Amino acid sequence: MKPVKVGICGLGTVGSGSFNILRDNAEEITRRVGRCIEVAQVGARRDNDACDTSDIQVTRDVFDVVNNPEIDIVLELIGGTTVAKELVLLAIENGKHVVTANKALIAEHGNEIFAKAQEKGVIVAFEAAVAGGIPIIKQIREGLSANQIEWLAGIINGTGNFILSEMSQKGRDFEDVLAEAQALGYAEADPTFDIEGIDAAHKLTILASIAFGIPLQFEKTYTEGISRITSEDVAFANDLGYAIKHLGIARRSKTGIELRVHPTLISHKQLLANVNGVMNAIMVQGDAVGPTLTYGAGAGALPTGSSVIADVIDVARTLTADPTNRVPHLAFQADALSDVQV
Ligand code: HSE
Repeated sequence: MKPVKVGICGLGTVGSGSFNILRDNAEEITRRVGRCIEVAQVGARRDNDACDTSDIQVTRDVFDVVNNPEIDIVLELIGGTTVAKELVLLAIENGKHVVTANKALIAEHGNEIFAKAQEKGVIVAFEAAVAGGIPIIKQIREGLSANQIEWLAGIINGTGNFILSEMSQKGRDFEDVLAEAQALGYAEADPTFDIEGIDAAHKLTILASIAFGIPLQFEKTYTEGISRITSEDVAFANDLGYAIKHLGIARRSKTGIELRVHPTLISHKQLLANVNGVMNAIMVQGDAVGPTLTYGAGAGALPTGSSVIADVIDVARTLTADPTNRVPHLAFQADALSDVQV
């Protein structure tokens, strides 16, 4: 079967992680999909030393990628909402499936983008937009799809949690830890999004839309960040037996769905209080399943790339003619299993 061809737009933190996962795990991925996934072109303003693109077509104009007739799936990993929106809409117009990690784009323009994708019969997948490497979108949409979701609450910004954890555990300064989060590639291009709660509000908007079946309503989210939390606040909370955590909370109320992101005092006895560093964790309460908790890295090249490539694999499975490949009944394609030594 001919390979599924992918075009990667953006070779920053997430782009490089995604590129390297596709390369390093190519054999495993091919066995899972039953067909090879090939990077046909990369569009990036500059090279990234973390990626060996020597045998790949590279362009400085990301629009070359969406206009490339060979490409089946476009990975939008440039971030922002202006060029990225234009790029995604053009990719859809050109009949390409899109995978994106861009929470701002989905939260603020998703209604328009999904309407266009539906009209053109293409998939727009966005697992990596929320909670980095945690497959929370798939968990809510697939694993918990039998439930009425009552509420969800979680730590959904890795940078903010890294800052609060380092302040609490090592007594470090806010600014010093933020600079480290930027150096590690956790923070957004504009870190105001992380520390003022905007990034978490984008992610909560997306989660709530999936959990409660409501349109994306970013502007209705109460948004407060961590920029005014001092070392003294963190130390006082610790002395009283609490951790300060930045949470995103969405729940059904009598008047509708309540959406809010803000710093919260959580008793040290609670699991969420013990989620530290760049890790994220999300509790989802379903009427049938009860409480669930999912934990993992909320930012970084490889964790976020893991979610991007999982979406690419999902789309590639959908593109194969075999309908049994669309349901997760086997980890690998049956004809690939004979190669596996136990
Ligand atoms: N800046 C984001 C965070 C990146 O720190 O969570 C992952 O979405």
